[in-house]
Amino acid sequence: MAQAIKQSSIPATMRALAIAAYGKPSTYGIATVPTPQITQPDEVLIKVHATSVNPIDIVLASGALKMATKDTFPFILGYDAAGTIVAVGSGVHDLKVGNEVFTRAPNHLRGTIAEYCISSASATARKPASMTFVDAASIPLVGLTVLQAIRRADAELDGGLKGKTVFVPGGLSGTGSVAVQLLRNVFGAKKVITTLSPGKMERAKELWKDGEGEVVYLDYTKDDVNSAIGPKTVDFMLDTMASAMESLPLIRHGGVIVTISKTPSGDELKAKFKSAPWIMVALLNLVDGVNRWRASRHGVKYSYMWMNADGKGLEDLGTWVEEGKIKPLVGNIAQLEDMEAVKEGFEEVQKGKGGIGKFVIKAL
Ligand SMILES: NC(=O)c1ccc[n+]([C@@H]2O[C@H](COP(=O)([O-])OP(=O)(O)OC[C@H]3O[C@@H](n4cnc5c(N)ncnc54)[C@H](OP(=O)(O)O)[C@@H]3O)[C@@H](O)[C@H]2O)c1
Repeated sequence: MAQAIKQSSIPATMRALAIAAYGKPSTYGIATVPTPQITQPDEVLIKVHATSVNPIDIVLASGALKMATKDTFPFILGYDAAGTIVAVGSGVHDLKVGNEVFTRAPNHLRGTIAEYCISSASATARKPASMTFVDAASIPLVGLTVLQAIRRADAELDGGLKGKTVFVPGGLSGTGSVAVQLLRNVFGAKKVITTLSPGKMERAKELWKDGEGEVVYLDYTKDDVNSAIGPKTVDFMLDTMASAMESLPLIRHGGVIVTISKTPSGDELKAKFKSAPWIMVALLNLVDGVNRWRASRHGVKYSYMWMNADGKGLEDLGTWVEEGKIKPLVGNIAQLEDMEAVKEGFEEVQKGKGGIGKFVIKAL
């Protein structure tokens, strides 16, 4: 079924961040595991050059969602990858062996923090030649999430996002940094308000000194953010820091909140993880229903967004990176074999404080 670069050049085993039991980053380790093989016509096998870490990797590896995910072990972490295709399934026509690509693997193909990974062709895009593998690895999961959330708001807001005021907390977080740039330079927002800790203010101002629209920087550790923004002045809030309910008074009547950081609705969970137990689905639907009701009392449309793997969206993001509209933001970089540095990077992501942009792990 698969067309391989040279079958002999794909080793039978590979090194991967593979855990034998659920645990915290301090328990993670590198293991030698079988190299994954293509089993479906639409799959591609990628030699990974770089991969990046997302909070969900740590949540899943902790076992917090085990009732819904029903994982098997060894459990290889990771969804993002940038690398070179070394084999394609029989149904793949637009991608070829040797193509440099980036991907957010679909949920059932998790396991990109490794020397090789499988993704589906429809979740994979050609990497622009001008983008490094490290930069490309930093984009997929966060880029697709904020792109899908912003497109939803663009469709739901009267007149779309052009000329509007937007609030995105955590401007130098993995999601926040792509969102601020997309909103200004692609979707035409007039003003983007963001929050940062004081040590990051100057870095953000330097990074974003050029570009469309105004950026307002607030120090969330000292400023009274709600007073500084003012009631009913924001058209769209992209909730990256689970603060949607506290920010409700800021959103004007008819405005939109898309949260990526509060708990998903039960239906969203079920759509991603078929074996989610009914009680979990019911409870999450209840919490989500209360949040929607609270928002509706302010005249605000509230919804949770769980990103979908999507190669077409990645192509769009790659084009905007090439055009200089998005600059990938990479913070820590570690080599896969350097477990001390890998664990440190994961621990910073787990803390949710102090990091800048994305933590990237190089497999080559
Ligand atoms: N729904 C989805 O499909 C989806 C997809 C991606 C991510 N997410 C979720 O979205 C959230 C953000 O993800 P991420 O990848 O952007 O995380 P991240 O990069 O790990 O975010 C960490 C950063 O957030 C900043 N931060 C922490 N608390 C803050 C606050 N109260 N106000 C402003 N900034 C604050 C920290 O900066 P300081 O050091 O300055 O405090 C830190 O650098 C996570 O909950 C993640 O699970 C959901």
